[in-house]
This record gives sequence, structure tokens and C-alpha cells, in this order.
Amino acid sequence: MPPVKTVKDYIRTIVDFPHEGIMFRDVTTLFADPRGFRMAVDQLLHPYSGLHFDKVVGLEARGFILGGAVAHQLSAGFVPIRKKGKLPGAVISEDYTLEYGEAVVEIHDDAIQPGERVLVVDDLLATGGTAEAGIKLVERLGGEIVGCAFIIDLPDLGGRKKLQDMGMDVHALCAFDGL
Ligand code: PRP
Ligand code: MG
Repeated sequence: MPPVKTVKDYIRTIVDFPHEGIMFRDVTTLFADPRGFRMAVDQLLHPYSGLHFDKVVGLEARGFILGGAVAHQLSAGFVPIRKKGKLPGAVISEDYTLEYGEAVVEIHDDAIQPGERVLVVDDLLATGGTAEAGIKLVERLGGEIVGCAFIIDLPDLGGRKKLQDMGMDVHALCAFDGL
């Protein structure tokens, strides 16, 4: 019998993308595989079995692909956190640091009601800057973040520790060493 594939086995690594020295962990191969995608969504949900969520918050862009599927499975609403200038209604914003320079993410200011239970979802946790900005937006609206779920953790970049130091419960399906 062939060995059973894990979520990590479906993730493709592209060497030197987007620039030299980076090993890009490409989840499109996971998402494109019917078994892989279902496995990833099921495993993301696993720790939250029996818990109630009002909203799933997905981080643009790859967090949208997972977040929609996860929200459907939880019978929760889906809320996008988008890069600056994309949301049409009134928003609140947070700056965060990228490898080169700064970026801004936004959420509609009426997307989460105070006390709502939220699951934050993205594909990858690296420095944690993107997730931290998203968490701050949800908390500014009064949401209660029950968990933060990712497919991939890059522990050498410190994101998990950053989020845990903020009091977050962090769940990741697999980890890769290095950048
Ligand atoms: C990638 C990834 C995470 C983020 C992780 O997104 O999808 O959202 O970086 O990095 P961090 O933990 O250091 O913040 P990216 O900003 O490349 O954009 P995309 O999802 O829109 O492709
Ligand atoms: Mg992203």
C-alpha cells in the first residue's frame, strides 16, 4: 500500500521565489487536490469541535480560500480582512511591517459585533505581522478571538510566539524549518 499522504505532502516548495534565498511554500497544490483540500479544512477545524463561532475572519488573499470553507463548515459568517482600499464601506485600519516596508489591512467597522466569537484563518504564519494586524482589528471591534488557525507555521520566523504572547491560541497543521 502507498504511504498515506499528509497535508504537508501536498504543499509544493518553489526555490528562490519571489527572490533568491526564499523557499516559497506553495499551497495551490494543496488546494487543487480534492483530498488535500478536504483534509486541510477538516484538520483546521479539528481542535474546535463542539465550539460555537459567530464569525470566521480570513486574511487576504490566501486566507479567503480557507476561510470560506471553514465558515461554511462551522455555520458561521465569513468576514474578510483586506489590503488597504479594497473594502467599500466604513473601515478601521492597522499598519503592519513587511520584509520591505509597511502595509495596511482593513475591516468593515460593522463586520463584527462586541462579544462575537471569532476564528482567525490564514494559510501561513511567518513573522506573524499579518495575523497580529488582523487580531488587533477584530479586538478593536470587540470580537472575542477563540483561536487562530493556519496550514503552515514557519517557527524560525517567530510568529507563533508573537501571537501566543498576545494571549492567542495558535493551531497549525505543519511546520517547515528555515525561511
Ligand atoms: C503571506 C501569507 C500570510 C503572510 C504571512 O501573505 O499568505 O498571509 O504572508 O507572513 P507574516 O506572518 O510574516 O505576516 P502575502 O502578504 O504574501 O499575501 P497574499 O496572501 O495576498 O498572497
Ligand atoms: Mg497572505
